[in-house]
Amino acid sequence: MEHTSKIIELNEHDLIQSIQSNTISVCVIGIGRIGLPTALSFANSGISTIGVDINSKLVEMINSKIFPLKDEPGYDVIFDKVINEKKFRATTNFSEGVNSSDIIVLSLPTPMNDQNIPDYSALLSVAKRLHDEMFNGKLIILESTVEPGFVETDFLKILEGNDEKLKLGKNFSLGVCPETANPGQILNDFERLPRLVGAMDESTQKLIIKIYKHVFTVDLLPMPDCKTANAVKLTTNVFRDLNIAFVNELALIFEKAGIDIMTVLEAAKTKYNFQVHYPSAGVGGPCLPVNSYQMINFAKNFTSKTFELVEKGRKINEKMPYHTVDLLEDALNEINKPLSGSFILVLGVSYKPDVKDIQISPIEKIIDILKEKGANILIYDPYFKNSEVFGIKTLDDFVQNLGILDGLIIGTAHKEFHNIDPEFLKSKMKNPIVIDSKNIIDQHLAKKAGLIYRGIGRGKI
Ligand SMILES: NC(=O)c1ccc[n+]([C@@H]2O[C@H](COP(=O)([O-])OP(=O)(O)OC[C@H]3O[C@@H](n4cnc5c(N)ncnc54)[C@H](O)[C@@H]3O)[C@@H](O)[C@H]2O)c1
Repeated sequence: MEHTSKIIELNEHDLIQSIQSNTISVCVIGIGRIGLPTALSFANSGISTIGVDINSKLVEMINSKIFPLKDEPGYDVIFDKVINEKKFRATTNFSEGVNSSDIIVLSLPTPMNDQNIPDYSALLSVAKRLHDEMFNGKLIILESTVEPGFVETDFLKILEGNDEKLKLGKNFSLGVCPETANPGQILNDFERLPRLVGAMDESTQKLIIKIYKHVFTVDLLPMPDCKTANAVKLTTNVFRDLNIAFVNELALIFEKAGIDIMTVLEAAKTKYNFQVHYPSAGVGGPCLPVNSYQMINFAKNFTSKTFELVEKGRKINEKMPYHTVDLLEDALNEINKPLSGSFILVLGVSYKPDVKDIQISPIEKIIDILKEKGANILIYDPYFKNSEVFGIKTLDDFVQNLGILDGLIIGTAHKEFHNIDPEFLKSKMKNPIVIDSKNIIDQHLAKKAGLIYRGIGRGKI
């Protein structure tokens, strides 16, 4: 049955009343890493919320009161609360979710394909379904990361279709609020990071700001339009990707020059206008690498040229897994051992510390190279114990395997690895080679213990 209120027709007074009396309802389509916390925040503010997802196992889990994001502190409690209050539930039924709600929030994945071309198929297929199945009067808000111009062109075109059924401003409203939270600390970020609001018209922007103000306590920054809001989101992440490329390339040069990059960075960051980034085995996750390719694609669409600097930065960051394995081979050379046939333990596979997430992790590339070179690979990650990652069965403890090791690569700076004692490694490992792609071990202690140690940008010690 059609939901009777038409949120886009409410005046300010009625909207505030509807928000305060919790008579508006929200549907979040895509309840993954970002969408689920978003939906829970809406529900926690008192708004009746439904999550729609094609992943039936996820939906079943949620409706069985099992919280799926164990590495998102704080949301476990909110989850229990809103489920018990019946403010939130999940469904795979698209039409039911959409048409029982006033506001549709899209938190769908926006990955890239094998050729690094952004893939917006999830958003476009949902746009088509909204065209076909959505009743009039809804407000649609895109939180997914997309390139500037995508909402105004490709997305809107499919949403409106070729008939007169849905017309922007007449039967529905559209805006964006690109998500900037960091996995592992989403609640914290939702409580402190300002949010960007762009829309197809001013009244929709005001409407979104009013609703989000009710849910989130942060500043809401009005953007002139959707494309500017999406440009801000990409700009912040490409800035990081490029700065990491800068320190990664510096690391390669400093290694040759015998300069320790960590010493340089610690001193450099005392200058007020230096923002520190750290070198590593590469840049992963569903955001930074993808966002750089979205920026490159966007530049090509609007200028017919590539964005050379961003492309170059990507190339440098994508080279770092190879460099990490080069460091390992260099260390093995010191003991006249080939990588082929050596037993190598990789500590940490997540693309960032303290989260269970291996999307576009540079560690996958390291493992591929190790496989190609014939190494025997062992993997330990506290978030992936006793499971299978990148085609390899993971360990549930790494200490008991140290005795067979010819080398160890620290891939992720999970908390558990911060206190690894170099003396302990030296006493237990068959060959005490440690490649520290996160520079978390004190290199002087490593040397004192007698480890054959290589960090990124640290050269030989
Ligand atoms: N994860 C991050 O670090 C992060 C941070 C900021 C922004 N973002 C952006 O947020 C968006 C969502 O990312 P995420 O990390 O939450 O992705 P995710 O893969 O964790 O979640 C996406 C969810 O959408 C579901 N889905 C896919 N196609 C669907 C469809 N057609 N209908 C219904 N559900 C569908 C999937 O099953 C999944 O549960 C992306 O645009 C991403 O770039 C992500």
